Amino acid sequence: MGEPGPVGVAPGGHEPVMIRQVVSLLACAPGRLYLDATLGDGGHAQAILEASAPTGRVVGLDWDAEAVARATRRLALYGERLTVVHDSFVNAPAALRALGVEVVDGIVADLGVSSRQLETAERGFSFQREGPLDMRMDRRRPTTAAHLVNRLPAPALARLLREYGEERFALRIARAIVRARARAPLTTTLALARLVEQVIPRRAWPRQIHPATRTFQALRMAVNAETENLEAFLAALPRLLCPGGRAVVIAFHSLEDRLVKQAFRSSLRPLTRRPLRPEAEEVARNPRARSARLRAAERPAETETGPGRAAPGHEAGRPSRARGGGDV
Ligand SMILES: C[S@@+](CC[C@H](N)C(=O)[O-])C[C@H]1O[C@@H](n2cnc3c(N)ncnc32)[C@H](O)[C@@H]1O
Repeated sequence: MGEPGPVGVAPGGHEPVMIRQVVSLLACAPGRLYLDATLGDGGHAQAILEASAPTGRVVGLDWDAEAVARATRRLALYGERLTVVHDSFVNAPAALRALGVEVVDGIVADLGVSSRQLETAERGFSFQREGPLDMRMDRRRPTTAAHLVNRLPAPALARLLREYGEERFALRIARAIVRARARAPLTTTLALARLVEQVIPRRAWPRQIHPATRTFQALRMAVNAETENLEAFLAALPRLLCPGGRAVVIAFHSLEDRLVKQAFRSSLRPLTRRPLRPEAEEVARNPRARSARLRAAERPAETETGPGRAAPGHEAGRPSRARGGGDV
């Protein structure tokens, strides 16, 4: 069993974004139970475990088997304070119930892809590393990026690039993909990146990012049904929080941030009127933080179940989170 490393930073891995803000907005304290819906390398989970020591606990979910294995190994020193589950956050209610948990004191979701996933060439997320056009975070899912680029008709491809990638040249790229695949299927990341580079006129290349960034982001979001999954998770989220419980969501895409804003406004009490952005120093150290938007919200003590009526799993205003002999 090795050392877990400095809080939040996995050796050679993903640097968690806005960690200080996450811990402070969750008001981490001993004895509390937290759900990390996107465990990844476990950076946020570790920070929460430290801030809620010695008795705070975390249930960490991730649908990427490799992330689950790594975080389990890396955070083994926390023993029973951490429970790792290999599942999608869409299934968070059932996953918690299987552990005997009805509600938690805090939830964090740090959306999107981890640096570790991005930098592993064979996962196919990066336009800078040669790999198969895969992009599945959960490799049990049937659809890869190669399926989409080689099968979707041009209008559907263009819509996807426009909606998820906010790509101005969506139709041109989609048509070029269809022409290219008529000769031979597009199977690798660099082949697609080169194609996009050729389609977007050089004078229109974005200044700060590679011209294929938007195309790759759009395909990744489609392959992983990211917006649909986020919508389902946000719909279930208020019922997973105990009264007074808090949720923090970090989004990296304006579409996702809008969904978080709407969901928080409609069923929780927002704690952030505008999304918090990382400080310049953090962005300089960790460029992935650049587009992060963090929102937090609280479940009011008087809940949608009606004033004075406790949510399941609560007695006298404090959660008895683990029910039915739950072992978390
Ligand atoms: C940005 S990383 C999280 C990094 C983590 N906060 C840390 O500190 O290391 C996002 C993680 O969420 C996972 N993920 C994305 N969508 C998911 C979903 N629907 N269910 C569960 N995990 C998901 C990805 O596999 C990835 O590991």
